[in-house]
Amino acid sequence: MPFDSPQDPQWESLLEAAWAAHANAHVPYSRFRVGAALRWESGVIAGCNVENASYPVCVCAERNAIGAAVAAGLKPGGLQALVVVTEADILTPPCGACRQVIAEFASRLPILLANRQARRLHRIEDLLPWPFHPDNLGSR
Ligand code: THU
Repeated sequence: MPFDSPQDPQWESLLEAAWAAHANAHVPYSRFRVGAALRWESGVIAGCNVENASYPVCVCAERNAIGAAVAAGLKPGGLQALVVVTEADILTPPCGACRQVIAEFASRLPILLANRQARRLHRIEDLLPWPFHPDNLGSR
């Protein structure tokens, strides 16, 4: 199964895209750069966090990557792998809001957290075991 270990070579193109986006993060307030990149059937799309002088308007790297992918045609269930990179000493996991957005577009998604020294592999179902799901809305 692809992306089933942190050393799987398939992570490399995602890491490269995530670090490139990380360099472009707009973070004048937190100075905390985050890069994300996802794989879906049509390729790789990256995102970075984009902050704003109106602080609550900040958007995380993961949600910006997913939003760009949706604009390119990503559908629920279509996410295949996701990488999140920062230069923090402690690996950075997706925030709660991003976990919920990730869950909308993935099932059993492998998520690689990385910094310059380390990487660790998680799965969305471990980070968010019981998400609110489109099925919960029933038939409308
Ligand atoms: N941030 C992300 O982009 N992704 C995460 O997973 C955690 C937090 C951003 C939001 C804000 O721009 C900065 O990191 C500090 O919270």
